[in-house]
Amino acid sequence: MYLSRSAEWSALVSHFQDSVNQSMAELFVSDTERAERFSLSLKGVHLDYSKNRITPRTMELLMDLVRRSDIEKKRQAMFEGERINFTEARAVLHTALRRPQDYSMTIDGEDVPAEVSSVLEQMRLFCDQVLSGQWRGYTGERMTDVVNIGIGGSDLGPYMVTEALKSFAHGKLRVHFVSNVDGSHLAETLKGIAPETTLFVVASKTFTTQETLANAMSARAWFLAGAGNQAHVARHFVAVSTNREKVEEFGIDASNMFRFWDWVGGRYSLWSAIGLSIALYLGFDRFSELLAGAHAMDEHFLNAPLEQNMPVILALLGIWYNNFFGAHSQAFIPYDQYLHRFPAFLQQLDMESNGKRVDRNGVETDYATGPVIWGEPGTNAQHAFFQLLHQGPAIIPVDFIIPLKTRNPAGEQHDMLVANCFAQSEALMRGKSEAEARLELEAAGYSGDDLQKLLPHKVFPGNRPTNTIVLDELDPFTLGSLIALYEQKVFVQGVVWNINSFDQWGVELGKQLAKAILPEFGSVTPADSHDASTNALINRYRKFRKSQKPQKIDQLSIF
Ligand code: F6P
Repeated sequence: MYLSRSAEWSALVSHFQDSVNQSMAELFVSDTERAERFSLSLKGVHLDYSKNRITPRTMELLMDLVRRSDIEKKRQAMFEGERINFTEARAVLHTALRRPQDYSMTIDGEDVPAEVSSVLEQMRLFCDQVLSGQWRGYTGERMTDVVNIGIGGSDLGPYMVTEALKSFAHGKLRVHFVSNVDGSHLAETLKGIAPETTLFVVASKTFTTQETLANAMSARAWFLAGAGNQAHVARHFVAVSTNREKVEEFGIDASNMFRFWDWVGGRYSLWSAIGLSIALYLGFDRFSELLAGAHAMDEHFLNAPLEQNMPVILALLGIWYNNFFGAHSQAFIPYDQYLHRFPAFLQQLDMESNGKRVDRNGVETDYATGPVIWGEPGTNAQHAFFQLLHQGPAIIPVDFIIPLKTRNPAGEQHDMLVANCFAQSEALMRGKSEAEARLELEAAGYSGDDLQKLLPHKVFPGNRPTNTIVLDELDPFTLGSLIALYEQKVFVQGVVWNINSFDQWGVELGKQLAKAILPEFGSVTPADSHDASTNALINRYRKFRKSQKPQKIDQLSIF
């Protein structure tokens, strides 16, 4: 039965119609157990989902919906290595990367736990060598800087984690991330570092990604301009990839390659050798704690009853708003400056996974498969776009994330941060009624027409849903759990929506067209094979290029 015509879906449509005007503030008054009823804790991660437009009945109906999708069987299939990414005939086993290797499983004849532990050991040894100074550059100096060159999943995860855990770094290495094919990204990064003390980690699952290869080639040219000898490349360039042939073709020795496998999706790969820059920056033990935190969440996801299962609950709440309230976007607001790249990481995780318009049977969905994900850290966000959250016409659900403990006590500042976070969810829920706004205006001396004119602008509708995720502390373990929480949430939603969350064909067309356009810039004849707009844009750039004097390599800004 097609999802949106199922009895479970219809029951939710009716329930939505019956309860759409229910006020959360009133539900809190009528149910004194509500905060407790709709909260859940797991090893340093506490989820309060009581400020949602739900009752116990809503949750029952949402649970019926997830049960109809056979979630338990599909969850098992993922963890057991079935090829659930059926458009690419691949298993989805990022969970194996963080699982203690005391089990057996083979994929394509490969012993999964043995493979994982051998690469982890290779990473550990390499980290030890670099940090102890055993691994040195071509002048005999120690490494001081690591530059991760990658994009998408080969950048966002490691970049987000190294930023989030900056205060845990051992301080022996600086880490930099270059992703954009815009040469300025590399050029600005190279300005502050020296070839003799820099280690480049070229991270690409496929090792065919245009941006990464272009940046890696420019980085190698910059390095050779300083080092002078091709033989020195081996001490300064390592690769992380599934594609040994391409790595060797690029000129990186296979002994300097850290492998992973096609059953690790790009946006799920920070747990693999793609996390090498994390391990180098924090030390391998911290990286292991990150894996342990994620594994703890996996265990919870596998074993907790659906009604007390954090990823399942977050997934269903997302579906409730996206599909029944028609909420087209969701904001993620970490009240922690270290988590400033977390919303960007979630964007790829969620939107690349579930941004699909056909279901597993190839049938176009008549329901949304996920909101637009966005966000910025609080309190900055409050002074930028919270106006829209409080008084805009649309409902935009928010996830707040806040650690109880700060790494940087500064007077009352952490208390202020926490107070702001809690106040925002309270304000979004409570709002300000017309009567309250009127009283405030009267107290400020307004009356008559003046008061009447201002009044509608001072009203907050409230009843806007939020989750609050309270971490005991933002440390490697809880961060691992937090990331896995959202990974599994996205998985559950994909299962309910009956889509393949693990391919990303939608990114291919633009790549193909960019490859076709690139040679046209140097062509002697004007572009005429595209639509009129694209032809004109290409020709405008061709003309500009012709007007420029050709630059010699050593005049380029990165040298
Ligand atoms: O273009 C999208 C994508 O394929 C992502 O899924 C992936 O994380 C990213 O490109 C980078 O791919 P790779 O690691 O193969 O360079």
